[in-house]
Amino acid sequence: MTQETAAVATDVVRPGKSLVVAIDGPSGSGKSSVSKEVARRLRLAYLDTGAMYRALTWYCLHAGTDLADGQAVEDAAEVLDLDISTSAGEEYVRVGGVDITDAIREPSISAAVSAVATNLGARTELIRRQRALIDKHHRRMVVEGRDITTVVAPNAEVRMLLTASEEARLRRRGLQLGGTQNAEQLAAQVTARDAKDSTVVNFTRAADGVVTLDSSDLDFEQTVDAALGIVRRVVEHAPFTRD
Ligand code: DC
Repeated sequence: MTQETAAVATDVVRPGKSLVVAIDGPSGSGKSSVSKEVARRLRLAYLDTGAMYRALTWYCLHAGTDLADGQAVEDAAEVLDLDISTSAGEEYVRVGGVDITDAIREPSISAAVSAVATNLGARTELIRRQRALIDKHHRRMVVEGRDITTVVAPNAEVRMLLTASEEARLRRRGLQLGGTQNAEQLAAQVTARDAKDSTVVNFTRAADGVVTLDSSDLDFEQTVDAALGIVRRVVEHAPFTRD
């Protein structure tokens, strides 16, 4: 299926009922692009929780907050004036009205974000906000991150772990950054960051009831199709209690 036909091939699943699709996985697994396309195809809202950790990091750096000061980072999370898109069709992140959509993707943020993402107080606050956004969308949302299947939405109707070999992940992140990074910089952004992050959340092995989707040998369309297949299979076979 071409990208163009994929964009129009939508399908409403469980109309009028909750459908949270929780997708976790490491950097470079294709999580964001696949999650967004799954949301578009199923006409669900979409939340990139990693962008929330990046926004908080941008805010702390901008405000001169010492990232090593755990209490200061936690306090920053509580006052963060964050406005983030919940639509796959539109990408924006604003803090205090300032558009930081592009700024949060800068290598300086990628290098600093683990210090914020490993702050348990800050996590508690961002998790609270993530759950509120899911509820605001009547629990019809694709939510991607590292702890969605296990902590943020362990009762999601569909829970999947999107993985890929380290080689595939480094290659994809390199392409994403337009070949601007050398092998060492890439490894720092992908492998080293995941190692730091996995000290607070385990996103390398699927928890009970979480379906693993390995995209190492799949292209984008094949991965989207496989993810949609998992959604349909789970929805067709699961006895939901919240119906
Ligand atoms: O997916 P990403 O690279 O944009 O994530 C940014 C950082 O936030 C990364 O260090 C992992 C962390 N993160 C997290 O700890 N929990 C989440 N739910 C999402 C991201």
